[in-house]
Amino acid sequence: MDKLFLTSEINRLKKEKNAIILAHYYQDKDIQDIADFVGDSLELSKKAASANADIIVFAGVYFMAETAKIINPNKKVLLPDINAGCSLADGCDPDNFRKLKELHPNHVVVTYINSSAQIKALSDWVCTSSNAKKIIEAIPAEQPIIFAPDKNLGMYLKKEVNRELLLWDGSCIVHEAFSLDKLIEIYNANPKAKIVAHPESERHILETANYIGSTSGMINFIKNDPATTFIVATEVGILHQLAKEAPQKTIIPAPSHEDNTCACSECAFMKVNTLEKLYLCLKEERPEIHIKEELRLEAIKPINRMLNLS
Ligand code: 13P
Ligand code: SF4
Repeated sequence: MDKLFLTSEINRLKKEKNAIILAHYYQDKDIQDIADFVGDSLELSKKAASANADIIVFAGVYFMAETAKIINPNKKVLLPDINAGCSLADGCDPDNFRKLKELHPNHVVVTYINSSAQIKALSDWVCTSSNAKKIIEAIPAEQPIIFAPDKNLGMYLKKEVNRELLLWDGSCIVHEAFSLDKLIEIYNANPKAKIVAHPESERHILETANYIGSTSGMINFIKNDPATTFIVATEVGILHQLAKEAPQKTIIPAPSHEDNTCACSECAFMKVNTLEKLYLCLKEERPEIHIKEELRLEAIKPINRMLNLS
């Protein structure tokens, strides 16, 4: 379908249905451009919580739309493609997670927002990459903690807060694909560049970084830092927002191990959403996110704890 037609139809349907489109920075650029709000996971959760709309179209992955539904049980929450998963959320199954909890009954459970409603319902706190440190620091130092599901974020936090965390063995397939050798090669060719990395990246990548933070944190750092060239270790969709917000800066995407077509890291889950699927989902009001009320009431507790602290 023609992009002009899709854009005008999406805008018309949005008004007619009192809908809002929330998009993550990893979405396709056309989706970011038509969204009412583009942000990192924490900002998107806050927007979902304050949304004054009948319909929320969540242009992101399943756990994000599910979180929006947990916060907004009376709103219709739509996801352009129901198959938009996440290696972190999908790699943490509730049965094994429950067993881990049972083995460590005295541990407080802090869970990254990249997880299913079932895992959130088994947690004491939810966090995102921008508030994880603050949340762990709010828990008394002598209190043992299970951190799930991202072991890379968990290892980074262990070092940051200088305390032991019992980690679930999960990872993001996009952020663990960065090649240190190729990164060093690029850095040697651009020795004045600053390296900016997302904390879902592996330790050897994080050790090279001048700044580590969430997607919004990375954008703010690049905008405000005096350097002119940055090597960016996160999903490549962020480059679109960087071109808008920091047009005078040179951005080099960190290369991944694979010689893939864009020679950089793309999240295949995020990219299953397209402008056409966004249009169809707004028109037909599906795929819709549903969640059992009993589960929702458990999953919202650690989310509210996070939102109240953030
Ligand atoms: P943030 O946008 O919160 O940094 O999260 C990145 C991510 O991997 C989302 O899936
Ligand atoms: Fe999940 Fe990684 Fe994709 Fe984010 S980038 S949605 S953490 S697989």
